[in-house]
Amino acid sequence: MCYNYAVRFVWLHHERSKVCEPPYHMTQCTSSARLERQTPAPILKWAGGKRALLAQFAPHFPHPSQYQRYVEPFLGGAAVFFHLQPAQSLLYDLNPHLIEVYTVVRDHVEDLIVALQKHHHDRAYFYALRAQQPSTLSPVERAARFIFLNRTCYNGLYRVNRQGHFNVPFGKYTNPTICDEPGLRQASRALQQAQLAVADFEVVLDVATSGDLIYFDPPYAPLSPTSSFTSYTSEGFSPTDQHRLAAAFRTLDARGCLLMLSNSNAPLIAELYHGFHLHPINARRAINSKANGRGLIQEVLITNFRAADRP
Ligand SMILES: C[S@@+](CC[C@H](N)C(=O)[O-])C[C@H]1O[C@@H](n2cnc3c(N)ncnc32)[C@H](O)[C@@H]1O
Repeated sequence: MCYNYAVRFVWLHHERSKVCEPPYHMTQCTSSARLERQTPAPILKWAGGKRALLAQFAPHFPHPSQYQRYVEPFLGGAAVFFHLQPAQSLLYDLNPHLIEVYTVVRDHVEDLIVALQKHHHDRAYFYALRAQQPSTLSPVERAARFIFLNRTCYNGLYRVNRQGHFNVPFGKYTNPTICDEPGLRQASRALQQAQLAVADFEVVLDVATSGDLIYFDPPYAPLSPTSSFTSYTSEGFSPTDQHRLAAAFRTLDARGCLLMLSNSNAPLIAELYHGFHLHPINARRAINSKANGRGLIQEVLITNFRAADRP
């Protein structure tokens, strides 16, 4: 089943429209730069972050009156969550360190700010902190270490070795923001009603019900065998995982969920999501080991509904 919602906005009567700045329907005609300013700055730099693509996504978001809960099973940098700031949400990622950071931001933001202020930008200090055993730290200290390393390491990459130890080198920044106090407090407020858990994306099959909006942003299918960047976790994301994800997408579609999914423009993706709406998205590739691999590439945003028919 592929939903075709002729959206009837009753947003004037809808509670959320009174409290959300800006009203969500306005975001359709908003420039990329303006949308970025209106969305809280991400706490973390994260490969595949969607902040720069929000203006292209905006015409495809359903209005908040159309869904009860927001579910995001590949949370990463959480750009879409922070943009939508849904009233109720379920947020997941397979990376336990990442989920711990968001949990600490939600529950202990003031302690986290104090812990972050102890860190400073220095090469030797970076390597000393990187060498620390995270298990010897408290959750707040671990979250502060994670944010510090993320903001000062090379390109904000996240990569671990076989032992699961973070191994990205020192970055080339002159004066990185290590402790963005207003940004952290803003993120903490946005996360107050969010449930966070470490899980494989298939958890959505257990929790999602009709009327939920689910946004999937998995590690992308490679365009060619050598172009992949799929090491967000030590496990990677294989073609079998892409098939598993497409099967979950079809199950949730039949259940009556509103679905949005980002992926590369690879032939496998067109094949797996045949019958749904595929919207082209222009993205700038930020992470590639070869300099000539950077530049504009086309991705796709796949939906099982049309939000464009707005009055
Ligand atoms: C492309 S990133 C998400 C980017 C994010 N949505 C953003 O806007 O910044 C993919 C995320 O999926 C997570 N991940 C990888 N395999 C997963 C799996 N099997 N289940 C759940 N999360 C997974 C990674 O840890 C990573 O954070």
